[in-house]
Amino acid sequence: MCGIVGYVGNKSVADILVDGLEQLEYRGYDSSGVAVMNKEEITVFKAIGKLNNLRTELSKHVGEFEKATMGIGHIRWATHGAPTVLNAHPHTCNCGNLVLVHNGIIENYKELREMLTKEGCVFRSQTDTEVVAHLVARMYAKTKDLAEAVRQASKQIEGAYALCVMHNNHKNTLVLTKRNAPLLVGIGEGEFFAASDVPAIIKHTKKAMYLNDNQVVVLTPDKMTLTDSEGNILPQKIEILPWEPVALSKMGYKHYMLKEIHEQPDVIRNILVGKLHAPDENIILNEVKLTKETLKNLNRIQIIACGTSLHAAMVGKYIIENFCGIAVDVEASSEYIYRRTVTDEHTLVIGVSQSGETADTLTAIKQSKAKGSHILIITNRPDSAMAREADSLVPVNAGIEVSVAATKSYTAQLMAFYLLALYMAEVKESVSKEELKNLKAEMMILPQKIEQVLSTTEEIQKSARKYSSTKDFIYVARGINFPTALEGALKLKEISYINATGYPAGELKHGPIAMLDETMPVLSILMNGCVYEKLLSNSEEAKARNARMIALTNSKDEKLDDLFENIIRVPDVDELYSPLLAIIPLQLLAYYIAEFLGKDVDQPRNLAKSVTVE
Ligand code: F6R
Repeated sequence: MCGIVGYVGNKSVADILVDGLEQLEYRGYDSSGVAVMNKEEITVFKAIGKLNNLRTELSKHVGEFEKATMGIGHIRWATHGAPTVLNAHPHTCNCGNLVLVHNGIIENYKELREMLTKEGCVFRSQTDTEVVAHLVARMYAKTKDLAEAVRQASKQIEGAYALCVMHNNHKNTLVLTKRNAPLLVGIGEGEFFAASDVPAIIKHTKKAMYLNDNQVVVLTPDKMTLTDSEGNILPQKIEILPWEPVALSKMGYKHYMLKEIHEQPDVIRNILVGKLHAPDENIILNEVKLTKETLKNLNRIQIIACGTSLHAAMVGKYIIENFCGIAVDVEASSEYIYRRTVTDEHTLVIGVSQSGETADTLTAIKQSKAKGSHILIITNRPDSAMAREADSLVPVNAGIEVSVAATKSYTAQLMAFYLLALYMAEVKESVSKEELKNLKAEMMILPQKIEQVLSTTEEIQKSARKYSSTKDFIYVARGINFPTALEGALKLKEISYINATGYPAGELKHGPIAMLDETMPVLSILMNGCVYEKLLSNSEEAKARNARMIALTNSKDEKLDDLFENIIRVPDVDELYSPLLAIIPLQLLAYYIAEFLGKDVDQPRNLAKSVTVE
């Protein structure tokens, strides 16, 4: 959840570190810090709050570090200890000679802290990270070899970590290691960068090496040495990152979220390129290894995900069951991992994750892999830890998503499910050729339909103003759009802090209807299809309790004008594809309400983009 950067080379380091942290700010943003190697010794600067506070702090000390060409930086999302200056990284050992930054969770930090305290270490913070600084320093006192000290300390640590370490005795050396947390090295001319994610370094270099668990890297300006946990030299797998720095620009939009919402038609076009050429051709998913035999042997499918990805998974269940006739369960990863799951080699386990790093989903995937299940990963990051666990992979190709609230990655995940379900239906021959052709033809025009929805942005903006003073908001739907109601509510609550809830409309009268009165907006997602009439009746019931009724619909039904005070229209579409269109106005509604309320849309409070702790 936190972000790490590091640099060793010949340029002034402070700007490189702070710019890198800015690109990682979406990973967490409650405090930050850098450590730079000056001529004499390491100096640490920290600040609480947004990165700008660190910039201000640094601006008071420019003379102290302008010549420094090596350093490490960190942006924090607090897990152990409040966001204070003392708890902010980098952390140091007793004497201050060793300094490090850490991303992840040290699970046995209490035991280690107790042991180190007995040995005389004095703790200044409440973090789990500080134990690592003391532990590595203790090993260094014995070995006088920084890489070896990191290796030996790692063996005593349980949990997840990416570490970037420097020491006063090694004026031009950075040491890195990781386990269950991402870390990569960017390779420049006479310089190396370290980062927990690509955006921090892409401006400087596209040449990079990802670290595997338990590997240790030593970086000096002109040399990179990679070793395993025993110190044996390993070959280096250097790759060219498929990223463009322009992906990290707002392109004239006020917020990344708005830009990302508007990118959705192109994202869907990109996904279709290479996967579906024409309605009468087969779907091409090169990295999916599900044969007719594997599908025949399946008893069930389990889809595991968190947050927005969980909502995509719920739509996925609906369409896979519909097209393939295989029973599908969907579960939040955090619920899956602490119980006895009935998962075996006859289960296909699908993990869905934008980042591919979400700790709960990664653990769930590893557990089911150990039980022999075929693992299929749907992710926006084919370079992620989750992708590396996959037997089959469906990359969602949404491009980098910077705004913390997921938008384009959600629609891209839905597309991944449509393609996967139709692909499996082709392999299983569970849908007629004619029906498949019609479904594919409609799939190919979805980008134009989303463009039509986006052309009504101004109308949605007006609605947003109208409802921006509400304290609560209810979204109702049935069937395949129930997850749309959940996702619409999640978008609103996470960026505007309005208490929004999604309900299956049929459940209203079993309790939630008690909350309805003339102050409560109720938004019905009324898409043409098998539950249309039922949802209309549920909307009547809500209206009878004086709720402020809003419809999101593709129906031309005139009855709606009497029932609803506000109608948001989307183009007509097959019911099965309707979640893809219906979510767009809800993303915009959430965006404009939050923007109208003056909230920090791209970096809402308490959240982080990549949740790498369980
Ligand atoms: C909400 C949001 C989160 C993520 C969740 C899972 O807008 O972004 O709910 O969907 O943290 O993250 P991934 O998909 O990276 O596993």
